[in-house]
Amino acid sequence: MTDHQLSRRSALAGLGGTAVIGALSTSLLTGPEASAATPVQTTVPVPATDPAGSPPLNKKVEQRVGALLKRMTLAEKLGQLQLVNTPDLARKALATTPCGGVFSVIGAAQLNALQKQAVQHTRLGIPLIFGLDVIHGYTTNFPIPLGQASSFDPAVAETDAIVSAAEARRSGINWTYSPMMDVTHEPRWGRIAEGDGEDPYLASQMAVAKVRGYQGSDYSAPDKVAACAKHYVAYGGTEGGRDYNTVDVSIQELHNHYLPPFKASVAAGVATLMASFNTVAGVPAHANSYTLRNVLKDAFDFNGFVVSDYTGIQELIMHGVAGDGADAAAAGITAGVDMEMVSTNYVDFGKELLARGRISQSEIDDAVRRILRVKYSLGLFEHPYVDEAGEVTAVSAAARAKARSTGSRSMVLLKNDQAVLPLQKTAKVAVIGPLAVATYDLNGTWSGLGTGAGTTPPVTVLDGIRAAAGSPASVTYARGCDIESADTSGFAAATAAAAAADVVVLALGESAAMSGEASARSNIDLPGVQQQLLASVVVAGKPVVVVLFNGRPLTLQSTHDTATAILEAWAPGVEAGNAVADVLFGKVNPGGKLPVSFPRAVGQIPIYYNHQNTGRPADPNNKYTSKYLDLATGPLYGFGFGLSYTSFTISAPKLSSPRMNRHGGHLTVSVDVVNTGAVAGDEVVQLYVHDPVASIAQPVRRLRGFRRVGLQAGQSKRVTFTLTTDDVGFYDNRARFLVETGLVEVYVGNSSAADQKVTFTVV
Ligand code: NOJ
Repeated sequence: MTDHQLSRRSALAGLGGTAVIGALSTSLLTGPEASAATPVQTTVPVPATDPAGSPPLNKKVEQRVGALLKRMTLAEKLGQLQLVNTPDLARKALATTPCGGVFSVIGAAQLNALQKQAVQHTRLGIPLIFGLDVIHGYTTNFPIPLGQASSFDPAVAETDAIVSAAEARRSGINWTYSPMMDVTHEPRWGRIAEGDGEDPYLASQMAVAKVRGYQGSDYSAPDKVAACAKHYVAYGGTEGGRDYNTVDVSIQELHNHYLPPFKASVAAGVATLMASFNTVAGVPAHANSYTLRNVLKDAFDFNGFVVSDYTGIQELIMHGVAGDGADAAAAGITAGVDMEMVSTNYVDFGKELLARGRISQSEIDDAVRRILRVKYSLGLFEHPYVDEAGEVTAVSAAARAKARSTGSRSMVLLKNDQAVLPLQKTAKVAVIGPLAVATYDLNGTWSGLGTGAGTTPPVTVLDGIRAAAGSPASVTYARGCDIESADTSGFAAATAAAAAADVVVLALGESAAMSGEASARSNIDLPGVQQQLLASVVVAGKPVVVVLFNGRPLTLQSTHDTATAILEAWAPGVEAGNAVADVLFGKVNPGGKLPVSFPRAVGQIPIYYNHQNTGRPADPNNKYTSKYLDLATGPLYGFGFGLSYTSFTISAPKLSSPRMNRHGGHLTVSVDVVNTGAVAGDEVVQLYVHDPVASIAQPVRRLRGFRRVGLQAGQSKRVTFTLTTDDVGFYDNRARFLVETGLVEVYVGNSSAADQKVTFTVV
């Protein structure tokens, strides 16, 4: 923050004692204004007082971009704005007006052939950028992002990104459509699996780690790729959890809740962003000049490029803000979407729109400049081709080991009655359930090349348990039922297998296809007859350990009431079965925490820990408070919750100072965490803040620090968090970042229910 920014003060009456740091004009919440037929270019200057601090431009790159731009015809410029998704379309475009990039095409030889056509057989020889959804793995599948977020360990996300970037780049892909950072309160939404859950701070930390892992300090390196922060913005607010649905959001909610991971990613130097399919306050994200120009490009100072989502420009017509393709192109270009994915309105109508003055030369040049900047930064002009011999088609032992450790690190122990876990190696184990021998389902949604015939299937739960058990003969198997069917004919055999064993491991959950894009569910119970399978297995009287594989929070009240233990494994990736066995037999002590609340019932949605208080907070003894008549208050499992095979204490938090200066002050909060149990384990120390009296109602808690700490039995460590004005300030409904004077409560503990409190005063 500069002195100039800090010297800005609120002029608003009633906000005395408030430092105003940055403001954006909210009168600009417009895309194609007034009439869809004549999109208006938004040129109102915005005070860019709140930059994300994006890395400075590289002068040499800027010179080369400038020089190339001067040599380009209008058609060549418009061509760079086009992204196609088949080799045929690429070949056709390269033969006439070269396109800018190709996505979803894989294979080093094929990519090299296309690149050769672009570099050697087009007038300017501008290389193509090659994109792919490398979401949690290219050849080696890692846990789904929601699982990774459960690790509360950014190193997990970074590890995935480092391995995935190297595998992808060595195979010819230089641009990944990851990280996805859509904060959401919607477990019904299938795409919750792709992101980091419900908290903007956790999502920011994980997103930045991924950007760092994908891009390194220089993404021209042969093992790095350009990252893409998506989906911009507020996609996670989708009404009813239905994909692509409307989002109507206040300015403060947009800035406090949805924008922080994007801002953090821009500060971390993310090369590209992808626009989201939803509307934001009535204006589709693809035509939203407020979010794209005023916030992203002006205020955050983002200098990479924005790609549309799949046909997102064309969909402006269906949204009802563009009458035809020309309108859609004008709206997208003026709002600030630089590259069009799949649909072709920019190349089809760009020339005519320019001639008619509906878009400007500088808008086109700016978009092209941004795309070329990324291509130069990728080193594509020097090294357009990939060494085909280096293509990564098999999972290496090193990558496998990382998938296994990140897999177990992402699991969350939700219940462990009678200390049934960890299992004894000598126990007779009945492995039951539709996910026990599943393979590709354990990759979850958006797996990389690892999905499909001929590629490496994940290790099954049964195989992992057999490999870890004292003797494979002590492990039996019964399927019980399918994931979704109503067939209960396997129940009897499952109950018999349970009766003959000492303990049951019941692998339940969703198929990979039940989460991800266009995979919303209105009912988030265990699918099919799985709940009944649990009931019939319990009848055998043996302890039942449920291991869950799912891409979203499920409603688990009955499971919780019935099972002896529950391990949330998400979709762990290629080493799934081994990672599960590591945890079940105690080789790894689970230390993950939930990045999202698990509702008691679907009717409670949205339910999230960082809600406002209301004027009538829930009180079981008072009817006229905010609650349901037919449901206990709060989630079944809250944000930040997770058990361990050991126990911990966290000391009362100590402050370095009882005061924080509102103009750039800071202080520290320290606790000692002790492993008081008998085995080594990890605890995630979590710090939440609450501003009890502010000019707009504040969340009851906001996560502002976490640290995953590994401790031997009896070991103690001090954890110190630094809080700054960034941690106590918030955006108001004029998009001003305010740091207000007054009391701040700090809670430290091992979940969002942390109850050790200390307070300080912002002065
Ligand atoms: C649509 C999805 O919304 C987006 O996340 C993905 O990157 C693109 N398709 C490209 O596959």
